[in-house]
Amino acid sequence: MVKVDEIDNLILDQISTSYISGQNLAEELNVSRTAVWKRIKKLKELGYEIESSKNGYKLKRKTNLLLPIEIFRCLKTSYIGRNYIFFKEIDSTNDYAKRCRELEDGTVVLAENQTSGKGRKGREWISSIGKGIYFSIILKPKIPIKEILRFSLIFPLSVKEAVEKNTELEVCIKWPNDLYLNGNKFAGILMESEIEANEVSRIIVGIGINVNNDFSDFENLENIATSLKMETGKEIDRKKLLCDLLESIENKYGEFFINKSKIIDDINSSLLWKNQKVKLIDGNHEIEGELLKIDETGGLVVKTETGIQTIYSGDLTLRKI
Ligand code: BTN
Repeated sequence: MVKVDEIDNLILDQISTSYISGQNLAEELNVSRTAVWKRIKKLKELGYEIESSKNGYKLKRKTNLLLPIEIFRCLKTSYIGRNYIFFKEIDSTNDYAKRCRELEDGTVVLAENQTSGKGRKGREWISSIGKGIYFSIILKPKIPIKEILRFSLIFPLSVKEAVEKNTELEVCIKWPNDLYLNGNKFAGILMESEIEANEVSRIIVGIGINVNNDFSDFENLENIATSLKMETGKEIDRKKLLCDLLESIENKYGEFFINKSKIIDDINSSLLWKNQKVKLIDGNHEIEGELLKIDETGGLVVKTETGIQTIYSGDLTLRKI
């Protein structure tokens, strides 16, 4: 876990506009010169470009990492992400969240790299260091188990809103929570619910977004995976996108308890393959039909040869035919 505290923050503020000597910094912050030197060394290791010359220290370029101090400069939420845990590398942010029982409601665990990133249905999720956004949010909503599917729709809708705010792209949602651009997937969500005594005790929402990934990052996934950079031809500001996304999540999370039908209306207006022929595969069982809509519980309504069917398990494979 990487920790950057208030003194590091003050050093960055001091050296951002003009040169300042180690001696002056030490006096200003009431710490020793050695402490200043150690902190400057740590900040350089975290990717801050800091010039050290006879004139003193000067910040030349900020880090690209999604460090807490960087995120707190733009975060407008009141509780989502206010407890923000950052790793340069971890196995999986979802697994970390599952291991740590004490994490408070709204905690965000973010990693620049995951060595065992997990996708849905036991798949692997590839993380490219410094290019994507990979994080998990710990939530403790007071909802009955039967509302989990509808609740899960908050997250793809928030990703859509944040991406559309930061690009000119139009995002489609593949039920239940994959995100597509021009027919290719650029983001996915792995929601893991913990149930105790028939009640939802915690929900861990893992979100992975391909932001500045290049074609070469998706070996064997060409024509399946894409990134925001591949679609726009431009580098996207990951810090701003993350702050906007956390804000969207907080807003939609609040809205969920007030307006029950809004989330369903919103998802229906950006649904991938709506009114088209699809196939649903669940092990050896297949259903073919026309994808009609998402119903008020969050289930997928399909018109098959034998009649209308509603599917509630998001763990099956949905394909276009
Ligand atoms: C999917 O589309 O299959 C879901 C992908 C979810 C990936 C994210 S990245 C952050 C979090 N940690 C994980 O191990 N997985 C999720």
